[in-house]
Amino acid sequence: MDLGLVGKVAFVAAASKGLGRAIAEEFAREGAKVVMCSRDEAAIGTAAREIAAATKGETLPVAADLSKKEDCERFINAGLEKFGRMDVLIVNAGGPPPGRFEELDEAAWDKAYQLTLMSAVRLVKLALPELKKTKGNVVFSTSTSVRQPTQYVALILSNALRAAVHGMLKTLSKDLGKDGIRVNAVQPGRVHTDRIDSLDADTAKRTGRSQEQVATGWHAQIPLGRYGDPREYAAAAVFLASERASYITGVSLQVDGGMLQAMF
Ligand SMILES: NC(=O)c1ccc[n+]([C@@H]2O[C@H](COP(=O)([O-])OP(=O)(O)OC[C@H]3O[C@@H](n4cnc5c(N)ncnc54)[C@H](OP(=O)(O)O)[C@@H]3O)[C@@H](O)[C@H]2O)c1
Repeated sequence: MDLGLVGKVAFVAAASKGLGRAIAEEFAREGAKVVMCSRDEAAIGTAAREIAAATKGETLPVAADLSKKEDCERFINAGLEKFGRMDVLIVNAGGPPPGRFEELDEAAWDKAYQLTLMSAVRLVKLALPELKKTKGNVVFSTSTSVRQPTQYVALILSNALRAAVHGMLKTLSKDLGKDGIRVNAVQPGRVHTDRIDSLDADTAKRTGRSQEQVATGWHAQIPLGRYGDPREYAAAAVFLASERASYITGVSLQVDGGMLQAMF
């Protein structure tokens, strides 16, 4: 299947490793130019170089902390300056720290609000004038916790704020259809990244089990019996962002090996 991404420009937020990096690499493999950011300048530079070498594609690394307005602006402006257009925006960020409700103070909520909700608001706001020109699209990378937060009592920051992100993105999919802009989401269940390892380590500490026992417990809840590979996740995100998904908008696609039990 030709995804129609050759020569397109994709902006992938939070992409030095994990899900963002896998998505950036998949875009580059499909012939898109990729603008990618993370806070650590060396890490994002290395990731961009490695992806360019592996795919013979063009990548631009930008050091940016997505919880800060001026850094969101730098990410988007640097990419536009280099490549002159935007066809796809992948909204992604680092996850808020784990914690149960009674362990978290207002400062933790404020920080998570900036990182998870406001980064999404700001990136979309900055992207819209460009996406209107190209009739481009936005894919939000969120979490299956939006559908089933009770699985994660120690991730209340993520659960609460990602629900707000989903309210926004579903509303945007209606509002921006008239401009030819599609808005969709991919929701990872347990896709194996450093974040998943650190969450499993946190659960192990809280429950007196080993990290391996925690991971095995998760595998048992997943019909496909294992964590996902970031490349499996990236394939879904890149398809939704491609021309071949031209009649799909307002959709939230879980990529979770069947973990969610609900029908929808
Ligand atoms: N993996 C899963 O199955 C899963 C499931 C549900 C939800 N999620 C969510 O998906 C997102 C990505 O997860 P992941 O598994 O890919 O995590 P990861 O492997 O830890 O990667 C996180 C990426 O985000 C970047 N980052 C973190 N904070 C940032 C900030 N303030 N500004 C810019 N970049 C930032 C990191 O680079 P720097 O450190 O250089 O900034 C890194 O590139 C997280 O929000 C996570 O909670 C993941």
